[in-house]
Amino acid sequence: MNMEIDLSIEVLGLRLIHPLMNASGILGHMPEHVDILKSYGVSAIVTKTFTLKPREGHKEPIIVELPNGGILNSMGLPNPGIIGLERIIKSAKSRNIPVIVSVGGSSIKEFSEVAIKAEEAGANAIELNLSCPHTKSYGLELGQDPLIVYEVVREVSGSIKVPVVAKLGLTDRIIEIAGKALEAGARALTLINTIKAMYIDIFAAKPFLSNIYGGLSGPPIHPIAVRVVYDVYREYEGIEIIAAGGAIDWHSVAEFLLAGAKAVQLGTALILKREKAIPEILKGLYVWLGELNIKSLKEVVGLANRK
Ligand SMILES: Cc1cc2nc3c(=O)[nH]c(=O)nc-3n(C[C@H](O)[C@H](O)[C@H](O)COP(=O)(O)O)c2cc1C
Repeated sequence: MNMEIDLSIEVLGLRLIHPLMNASGILGHMPEHVDILKSYGVSAIVTKTFTLKPREGHKEPIIVELPNGGILNSMGLPNPGIIGLERIIKSAKSRNIPVIVSVGGSSIKEFSEVAIKAEEAGANAIELNLSCPHTKSYGLELGQDPLIVYEVVREVSGSIKVPVVAKLGLTDRIIEIAGKALEAGARALTLINTIKAMYIDIFAAKPFLSNIYGGLSGPPIHPIAVRVVYDVYREYEGIEIIAAGGAIDWHSVAEFLLAGAKAVQLGTALILKREKAIPEILKGLYVWLGELNIKSLKEVVGLANRK
């Protein structure tokens, strides 16, 4: 391994040893998850989406691994509510790892109340989940309306000091919505969430998930996520993007960086490969940068967007 190559990156004002973090919902709601995620090698921890009150989520079946390599889930945002926030933030702080708290809400007030609590408890940044595709009144129902996105981001970023990240999903108006989030004060964008989809049990002759619809993640959505990162970076050059969507190996991570992402979140990769995912990706990135004769990962961010 070439030790001269620098994989560190600065995002959200945090200096991270490398660009790989877990995606929200992959562990991250219990204090003991901090040690597991650290053992996976993440450079920062992203929590599960927290809402004001505890949520039980949908009833089983809520997740299925698909034959095409993707995962379809409809968890329904289960989480312990703000009571659980302090414990996981404390646990991350005591282990010296930055923590980005994912915040959900069904109203502007709920988003800002949870964000304020998270900041008080010591969160390094807040990621607003404006894009969950399978939970009624939360997420994408709000996040596909540019005006609502503007209002939620403005209210939250006006109420706290730590950086606010808007996590957006796939919509036809992604450029306009991204612009509204930035205008309202978002320091960065996370692109993208899972994509609304379904799977049919052909022997039972009915939808597999209890909620019928779920969010598709993993390799099948990767080319779509790359396209979104590329388009948004091109439109608002120089902005901070954290990519998510089917990054499974060093090649798919490299694509995200070239499209304009400064950091990459891993969801399905950590579910499928656990502690093997990150070391494999970092090794591949070292070799790739070495072959390109590039000394610092920062130099490749957005390169595919050269005009
Ligand atoms: C089981 C599961 C639970 C998830 N829960 C959340 C969540 O609570 N909040 C959120 O913003 N995204 C959630 N996501 C979406 C991921 O954070 C990520 O945006 C998406 O899975 C795409 O990345 P991937 O293809 O690397 O998995 C979840 C995804 C999965 C698979």
